[in-house]
Amino acid sequence: MQNLRRSLLWWYSLHARDLPWRRTRDPYCIWISEIMLQQTRVATVVERYRVFIADFPTLISLALAPEEAVLAHWSGLGYYKRARLLHRAARFVMQEHSGALPRTADALRQLPGIGHYTAAAIASIAFGEAVAVVDGNVERVVTRLLGVTKDGKLPTPGRIRTAAEQILAKEQPGTFNQAMMELGATVCHPQWPRCDKCPIQEICRTQGEHPTVPRTRLRSRQTAYGLVQRKTKQRGKVEVLLQQRPSDAAQMPDMWELPEVDLSVVEKMEPVLRVRHVITKTNHYVGVYEFIRPTKEMLEKHPIQQWANAETLLEIPLTGLARKILMRMDIMPRPKSIRTGHVIPEALDPFLPTLDAQGNPREDETGK
Ligand code: ADE
Repeated sequence: MQNLRRSLLWWYSLHARDLPWRRTRDPYCIWISEIMLQQTRVATVVERYRVFIADFPTLISLALAPEEAVLAHWSGLGYYKRARLLHRAARFVMQEHSGALPRTADALRQLPGIGHYTAAAIASIAFGEAVAVVDGNVERVVTRLLGVTKDGKLPTPGRIRTAAEQILAKEQPGTFNQAMMELGATVCHPQWPRCDKCPIQEICRTQGEHPTVPRTRLRSRQTAYGLVQRKTKQRGKVEVLLQQRPSDAAQMPDMWELPEVDLSVVEKMEPVLRVRHVITKTNHYVGVYEFIRPTKEMLEKHPIQQWANAETLLEIPLTGLARKILMRMDIMPRPKSIRTGHVIPEALDPFLPTLDAQGNPREDETGK
């Protein structure tokens, strides 16, 4: 066990990705990063985390911000409920804990949006509590370490958790937990584990045989959106027609998007853009069609609309798809910290996404 800990920590000291939240010990920043990482790829989080922290540098600044501003900062990260719960949690911490984040996993779990693994991650990384993080990546690493039982069964979740607690290096739990997550994300990949690069290969029961449950297949759906722009009185400035999703929508309530149009309406038209966009378990193949003016259908079907000035689009809580389309069409400016004015560069993507044991995007802890 001691060898395993030493090898993994040594490997992590050499191979840990240089991520902005690993350069801080501020519990608030670690909390924000862990909430963002719950469902979103590291590369996307890096970009958005910087802007978020620049604009909401402290817990009190987040608590005082209007919810809409927080949602606008979340645009493109998906699972917007996380942003609402995060904002609610910041207000709760101000009221009930005088603005200081609770320091144990048990107490952190009382906050909105914080489940088991996020609580363990924050408590261990920010406060040094010896609790093991068991996220999808760690679950896979431990499953492979343990191997199948004599009768060919995968270890149960309880067995995995017990093993993770036993393996944990109690004197540096935060670093150790991050090392386990890092190993799962970059080496012990669901489909192509790189055992030749693994620092604990010798101790691993599986070594090249990879018991993972098959990935669930994504559903596919074709959709079409209308892009309607109009010139404003100011030269060179345009406005875009947006509509607000209903408050009771199951996904992305109250967020703003381009008007969806019936596929039959655009049958004979050429799209100005095609994008693929994954929302939960559905692959959307999206065509974007330009209209000179809103169609009758657009105006009648969607009661809440606005003409949004292209320059203000970053301040509007847009759905990730709308944001993707408006950025690809060069209608929307690149994200920029409102406070510092620094433009955030396009994220390059050297990182693997955070996946669960089956290789699916990790489940949302916030749905509870
Ligand atoms: N996934 C979630 N939190 C993480 C962290 N702190 N390091 C690596 N992967 C993570």
